[in-house]
Amino acid sequence: MDRIDSILEKMSLEEKIFQLTQYPISVFIDTKDDLDGPRKAYQLSGKNIALLGTVINPNDADEMIKAQEEHLRTDPNHIPLVFMRDVIHGYRTIYPIPLALAGSFNPELAEECAKMAAKEAALSGVQVTFAPMADYVRDPRWGRVLESGGEEPLVTGIMGAAQARGFQGDDLSDKDHIAACVKHFAAYGAGEAGREYNLAEVSLRELYEHYLPAYKMCIDAGVKLLMPSFNSVNGVPSTVNSFLMKKVLKEEWNYDGAVISDMYAVSELIPHGVAEDLKEAAEKAFTNGCDIEMCSSSYVLYLKELVEEGRISEEKIDEAARRVLMLKERLGLFEDPYHGADQKAAEAFYLCDENRALARRAAEESAVLLKNDGLLPLSPDVKRVALIGPFADSHEIKGAWSCKGRDEECVSMEEGVRKLLPDAEITVVSGCGIAWNETDADLQAAEKAANSADVVLLCLGEEQFCSGEAKSRTDLSLSPAQTALARTVLAANPNTAVVLFTGRPLAIPELSAKAPAILCMFFPGSEGGNAAANLLFGIANPSGKLTMSFPQSAAQCPVYYDRTNTGRPNWTDKAERLRYASDYIDCATLPLYSFGHGLSYSNFVYEEMKLSAKELPKSGSIGLSIKIKNESDISGSEVVQVYMKDPVASVVRPLQKLIAFKKVSFKPHEEKTVLFELNDSMFLFCDMEGKRIRETGRIEIMTGEADHFVLKDEFEMI
Ligand code: GLC
Repeated sequence: MDRIDSILEKMSLEEKIFQLTQYPISVFIDTKDDLDGPRKAYQLSGKNIALLGTVINPNDADEMIKAQEEHLRTDPNHIPLVFMRDVIHGYRTIYPIPLALAGSFNPELAEECAKMAAKEAALSGVQVTFAPMADYVRDPRWGRVLESGGEEPLVTGIMGAAQARGFQGDDLSDKDHIAACVKHFAAYGAGEAGREYNLAEVSLRELYEHYLPAYKMCIDAGVKLLMPSFNSVNGVPSTVNSFLMKKVLKEEWNYDGAVISDMYAVSELIPHGVAEDLKEAAEKAFTNGCDIEMCSSSYVLYLKELVEEGRISEEKIDEAARRVLMLKERLGLFEDPYHGADQKAAEAFYLCDENRALARRAAEESAVLLKNDGLLPLSPDVKRVALIGPFADSHEIKGAWSCKGRDEECVSMEEGVRKLLPDAEITVVSGCGIAWNETDADLQAAEKAANSADVVLLCLGEEQFCSGEAKSRTDLSLSPAQTALARTVLAANPNTAVVLFTGRPLAIPELSAKAPAILCMFFPGSEGGNAAANLLFGIANPSGKLTMSFPQSAAQCPVYYDRTNTGRPNWTDKAERLRYASDYIDCATLPLYSFGHGLSYSNFVYEEMKLSAKELPKSGSIGLSIKIKNESDISGSEVVQVYMKDPVASVVRPLQKLIAFKKVSFKPHEEKTVLFELNDSMFLFCDMEGKRIRETGRIEIMTGEADHFVLKDEFEMI
């Protein structure tokens, strides 16, 4: 009999049920027993808190150690607690938000960042992170796009799997690693109208084609904890959606890990209207495979009763408790309940030079140069620089879900530029507040600063907590004040580069038309100012690409790159009206900037593309080589993107679909041949029932950027 069997054998039903419950650390810290405070809120009492299985949001190692020691003293089975927290893009050293990091198209970098975060987190008393978020997204009105990998499941899946590997390493009991949790299963990003927690009505074809693949790629990377999404999918909240939780997760994917609800999601089945009360909520959530209830009390209050009534079998309770105990065993908590937590060591490791250097590299590789008429890179010998805009000297650039990151530990634009240009005369004018609806701007001060500078860095964007959970927006444009500021400064000085800080794609058509250069930093984290300065002054060369399209306007959403052609296409980036076409009378049809777009200071010339064969047999593969030359004096990296088009099939197919990518570095004037293997699985697609099928016929292969391909070829699937 293994350790877990012997533990389970000794446990009472109530003790097993408490293993299936998660409460915040406050129930250990704020011990106003039974009378008031969190214990009362969770209907806990001193005696049964000793049975608790898992804890969310430990604040530091000392707090976690104290709670664990107390627990092990009082738990009759001496089962260690497991401590979980959202370590999404860093613990204390903050790297770019996931939407930006995905744009590095560098899985090794994402893995390194997650590894660094795991070490900071483990030292601080965290053993599990609620990441990666593998939600496929199309609608930037939804605030949580910042946590996603964007609008291409292949990218989201590859980057999510890389993060999972970084967090988990090869052995979870290793003190430098923590367990990952893939979320939010499924289709959380499909909330209607981009409204948070809203229902998602998704066809089977769309589910299997777009919304499910990235979760599966994270599970295949070894993730053994999964979190269902808050929202309903095709009429049933994910937490109790048997199609998702049983048919897909267990039967089709053979997932054998644990499942934890989202916060209060079990009790929220009542407002969803699928449970009369907490007892029904408990029964539905548990029988649909939700093992752990996060921060609500339906399990501890009613599972025992449901077992006694024969509505839930104790065998199923044992299976769920086993999955939780397995997670603890894999983390080595039975040997070391503290998993190496050490606050002193943590403090020494936070933001150390090595961690800052990694965060800086990540911020440099994640930034996207949206536009450059030749203004960038700026000369580091420039004498007078004006930094204008609400982000000119702001430290608020870490973005939402930045765990224990601190604004004051983020390098601002001003600090980054002053450090890089110690002898330059630098003027800073914020010009207006950062609120999304700010109207007041000090245009006079801005104009004066712009007029007396050789170059202007116009630092604009979205307040960092305007994106994230429960931050849906109907308007993606800059605030009226920032718009006025931009008009004034761009009119005053043509040598103006815009630096954009945002958690989501913004609708910036006027800025895009008027500004000679736009560098999008998203929310770059602890080293944002240094990374931006390095990029603007040519110390680093931009290499990021968008993983989510920037719309012309919020009203155009959802707008995404892998669109279908319709019967009356009119794909223009201007509002040119064709009679009876699939477009708008008042807006361009194409996005302002598309997925895959991003400029470099190098000049990459795509010279030749070759296929090793002109026919692809079933389960076969074809070699693809693409010869590229860096026709410049500047070293740089290029994300070589390979797209396919299936012009005729039994269902409408996208005009372009990313099937592979490689980030390749080039020295000045270096030429390289980049090799890919195109295998059959890349060309399968989902039919109306969501079944992945293969059809013969012509396939086009393209490379370059979506909507702007430079080389094409084709072959026959036979
Ligand atoms: C939140 C989020 C989820 C997070 C959880 C715990 O509501 O939806 O992503 O992991 O609660 O903080």
